[in-house]
Amino acid sequence: MPQTHLITGAGSGIGALVAQRLADRGDRLVLVARDAARAADLTAAFPTAAPLIVDLAHPERLADAVAAADFPDAVDTVIHAAGIVDLGEVADLPLSAWTSQVTVNLVAPAELTRLVLPRVRAAKGQVVFVNSGAGLTAHPQWAAYAASKHGLKALADALRGEEAPHGVRVTTVYPGRTATPMQAKVHEQEGADYRPEAFIDPASVVTAILTAIDLPRDAVISDVTVRPGPR
Ligand SMILES: NC(=O)c1ccc[n+]([C@@H]2O[C@H](COP(=O)([O-])OP(=O)(O)OC[C@H]3O[C@@H](n4cnc5c(N)ncnc54)[C@H](OP(=O)(O)O)[C@@H]3O)[C@@H](O)[C@H]2O)c1
Repeated sequence: MPQTHLITGAGSGIGALVAQRLADRGDRLVLVARDAARAADLTAAFPTAAPLIVDLAHPERLADAVAAADFPDAVDTVIHAAGIVDLGEVADLPLSAWTSQVTVNLVAPAELTRLVLPRVRAAKGQVVFVNSGAGLTAHPQWAAYAASKHGLKALADALRGEEAPHGVRVTTVYPGRTATPMQAKVHEQEGADYRPEAFIDPASVVTAILTAIDLPRDAVISDVTVRPGPR
């Protein structure tokens, strides 16, 4: 039976590929787009998908956006793939970089999860957080992004315990550096040459996500770390 998936970040990188794989198997998609123009792009790419138009930098707008979206009563999975990164030392990082990363990478996933949980419970569904190796270890230059992702780990871990009695599974995927537009931007900020072939293929991260979603319900993949393979 086709499932329903709510996906953020479906316009690029890991989120776009996971949306493609789920659309290819005939599942129903509800896709978050930051504005009407990006929603039009997503509708062109995924003609049967329903848009949920909201800028995740403004999580206070999520409640109205969810209320306005064309949503079924049961949602099998929520896949939080949207994210932003801005590197910089704590000595230099402006307040706006802290606020934007914590808002988009942590507060928005928390608020979106809260708003759709009744539908996820109705499906005995699953919430998947695309975290990062930076959610486990914080390196110099990565303080704000890593803090947002450490927070996302805390959100997922607490939610897993809270939702188990409701039959909802919670999974965190921790990818290492993955060849997407975000990684190209990171290299720009690091002033380094970007060779996508040196990094994880986003399709491999998507395979890990789909494995967690498709796992039989007697078990849950709570956490999965995806590292670059030996070359
Ligand atoms: N690439 C890596 O090396 C890597 C490694 C570890 C973890 N991750 C994580 O993996 C996830 C996917 O990253 P990616 O590499 O696929 O990045 P990406 O190609 O840059 O895609 C990010 C997506 O997030 C969306 N997004 C960002 N800000 C938004 C906002 N304010 N409102 C709505 N949507 C917004 C973007 O929307 P637009 O398309 O409209 O810009 C885009 O679709 C992120 O959570 C990232 O932190 C990435």
